[in-house]
Amino acid sequence: MRQSDTILITGASGMIGSALLRKLQEESYPHVLAPPHAELDLRNTKLTGEYFARHKPDRVFHLAARVGGIHANHKYPGQFIYDNTVMQANVFEAARKSGVRKLLFPGSACTYPRLAAQPVQEKELMNGLIEPTNIAYAAAKINGIIMAQSYAREYGMHMIIPMPTNTYGIGDNFNPEASHVIPALMQRFHDAKQKLLPEVVLWGSGSPLREFIYVDDVAAAFIFLMQNYDLHDIINIGTMQEISINDLAGKIAEVVGYTGKIVLDVTKPDGTPRKVLDSSRLFDLGWKPQITLEEGLKRMYENHFINQSPIL
Ligand SMILES: NC(=O)c1ccc[n+]([C@@H]2O[C@H](COP(=O)([O-])OP(=O)(O)OC[C@H]3O[C@@H](n4cnc5c(N)ncnc54)[C@H](OP(=O)(O)O)[C@@H]3O)[C@@H](O)[C@H]2O)c1
Repeated sequence: MRQSDTILITGASGMIGSALLRKLQEESYPHVLAPPHAELDLRNTKLTGEYFARHKPDRVFHLAARVGGIHANHKYPGQFIYDNTVMQANVFEAARKSGVRKLLFPGSACTYPRLAAQPVQEKELMNGLIEPTNIAYAAAKINGIIMAQSYAREYGMHMIIPMPTNTYGIGDNFNPEASHVIPALMQRFHDAKQKLLPEVVLWGSGSPLREFIYVDDVAAAFIFLMQNYDLHDIINIGTMQEISINDLAGKIAEVVGYTGKIVLDVTKPDGTPRKVLDSSRLFDLGWKPQITLEEGLKRMYENHFINQSPIL
């Protein structure tokens, strides 16, 4: 990626998009386009095509998507599959027609089969049934992955497809209808601290193992891959560090300063016992994450609850 390149980020107001925009600004890339959703709705084929034809970006990070936790996925599967499928089809086709040199499209860890062998290697994609609670989102992602690879094969486009693990950090979604586990727990511990509640109840045994990566590390990995990776084979982005939900809750409570009890409601179901990506292909290329879970949680809590500073 050269300083003279015109770089387009779709979804630049989102969690990962805004981290990427901050990083490209820090690295002094002068020609970065970041159209807001209100200005460019990527579900609109005509507008998307016109935008690409007018600006002729060299590099595209297609990060706009409809994203959410189990609740949002369960309640709005039609919107998840429609918006994501149409957006990526519009963006890939507009990129093809306008001659984009390289395009990054993220898949996601939750695109892998529910019972994939752990740690999950890239070859596990489509090697089993998808988790039913997020099937519409994952099906749209799989469509996007195959579409990107098909465009690479037929039209010779440079398409790269990283698969980030669960991402958290500044700009995360705290809306209870859409939030993932870290912002949801952070909000609950914060509220419990404010209300002086003696305990917070967690669903399940607390034993399932999960992996989390800080958003600035994902943005850094995207830039690294844009510069150093030229295959259209998917590639995992994770930390290869696992933590149980119980230990995660303990760390979040500590960052928040909640000193009450954490009680496990073992009558409630656990999710999959272990979900961690094998990121050794990326590590072997020379990239590693830099931000520990403790540091990332601290930055996130301070930004959202203490400084209340804008993301950009
Ligand atoms: N978060 C994770 O844990 C994770 C993990 C793996 C992969 N990913 C992938 O990484 C990408 C970015 O995720 P994120 O967490 O940063 O998502 P996010 O915070 O929800 O941001 C999504 C972005 O897409 C924009 N957008 C949504 N619908 C749009 C439309 N119709 N037209 C134009 N823009 C639209 C949103 O703008 P408005 O807010 O204005 O609507 C927002 O800027 C997604 O492809 C996601 O699947 C995320």
